[in-house]
Amino acid sequence: MNTGNSKWVTSNQNGPHEKLPELVQRHLASPSQKPFSEHTLTAFEQAQAWLHGWQGPLILDSCCGVGESTANLAALYPDARVIGVDKSALRTGKHEANYANSNANYLVLRADLKDFWRLAHQAGWQLQKHYLLYPNPWPKSMHVKRRWHGSAAFADLLKLGGHLTLRSNWQLYVEEFALALAIAGIDTEVKPYASSEAITPFERKYWASGQQSWQLEAQLR
Ligand SMILES: C[S@@+](CC[C@H](N)C(=O)[O-])C[C@H]1O[C@@H](n2cnc3c(N)ncnc32)[C@H](O)[C@@H]1O
Repeated sequence: MNTGNSKWVTSNQNGPHEKLPELVQRHLASPSQKPFSEHTLTAFEQAQAWLHGWQGPLILDSCCGVGESTANLAALYPDARVIGVDKSALRTGKHEANYANSNANYLVLRADLKDFWRLAHQAGWQLQKHYLLYPNPWPKSMHVKRRWHGSAAFADLLKLGGHLTLRSNWQLYVEEFALALAIAGIDTEVKPYASSEAITPFERKYWASGQQSWQLEAQLR
């Protein structure tokens, strides 16, 4: 039975996952101790070298895909350093091929955010803004732990602070994320999102097919 609440994302869930509160509480109480992957350690070192002790505003564009949003955010916030991270070498590689990285205020890296967020927290990063644009929804109920708010990495994301902007074409993903933040004591605002211009390829694709975006905003402490 498909009871997804979006006509496009198909899910066997029709409301927040029943296990979510327990998962979030567990992850908040006992952060991940997993060893870091070698390639993410190297990418994080690259980020630190590029930042070179930067003390100004720092923006993270997590799950940046080909980095189109990273380039857009860098142009929008010229006084900040913007770092886009995606685990797909294919996608981050496309950034190099398609964008003239003439703007010195951003960097696109291939890394696994499950490790990158924890490394960034351990290194003392505090973000001004954090974008999470169209993360993989993992709509099957059995995959709830793969959604960011159901994963151990959620606790690390919170510790990085900043103004969080999450967008998805699956309303329930955004609502579950808001529920997870509420469990952590953080207020959120969830609204439909529209704009005259899409800032990521997935956003463009969803809008071209008539799908609605949902946006969550929250100030992480
Ligand atoms: C649906 S795509 C959206 C890409 C881009 N934000 C956009 O809107 O065009 C989701 C992205 O999340 C990335 N991703 C998923 N899990 C990740 C992880 N653990 N670390 C880094 N990136 C991840 C995928 O590689 C993919 O590029």
